[in-house]
Amino acid sequence: MNKHLEILYKEHAVIKKALQTVKELKELIDINPDEYKSEMIRYISFFRKYADGFHHYKEEQILFPEMSKKNEFLAEGVIKEMFENHSDFREMTGNIESLVNSGDYKNAHAAFEKYAEALLDHIAVEDDEVFQMAESVFDDAEIEKIYFRFMDCDKDLGTSDKIKFEAMIN
Ligand SMILES: [Fe+2]
Ligand SMILES: [Fe+2]
Repeated sequence: MNKHLEILYKEHAVIKKALQTVKELKELIDINPDEYKSEMIRYISFFRKYADGFHHYKEEQILFPEMSKKNEFLAEGVIKEMFENHSDFREMTGNIESLVNSGDYKNAHAAFEKYAEALLDHIAVEDDEVFQMAESVFDDAEIEKIYFRFMDCDKDLGTSDKIKFEAMIN
């Protein structure tokens, strides 16, 4: 696997693990609602800052535009769909947050489950289709350039914050 994609695959693994952990918080709703609320707030921040901030940002600002330059069918097809999904995820995260803040934990969790399902489907499409294409469209020099832009992006957003989020999930 090319090294620029390794970073994104690794982030997918962290996100998938977080989704599973949050799914399991459901049982807290009845036994310890205060803990449910504080854990959900912590994880909403993770999905906003890590999944959207660190991860989707690199796809949207760097990988997808570079792939689109190579192939306009990609730009109008699956890449466009990936952008739309990211935007839906932002809306869904906001909705889950409002439900948590209003104390409607049952609906918050139902909304979270829909979000988790959609995000897992999205990750599967990227892993199986988009990243496969990304393996083949770039030459070595382009891969190197994208890799360093990814690293710069993490640095700008705060590599130490990224490490903290990854430690929180593992
Ligand atoms: Fe994505
Ligand atoms: Fe992704």
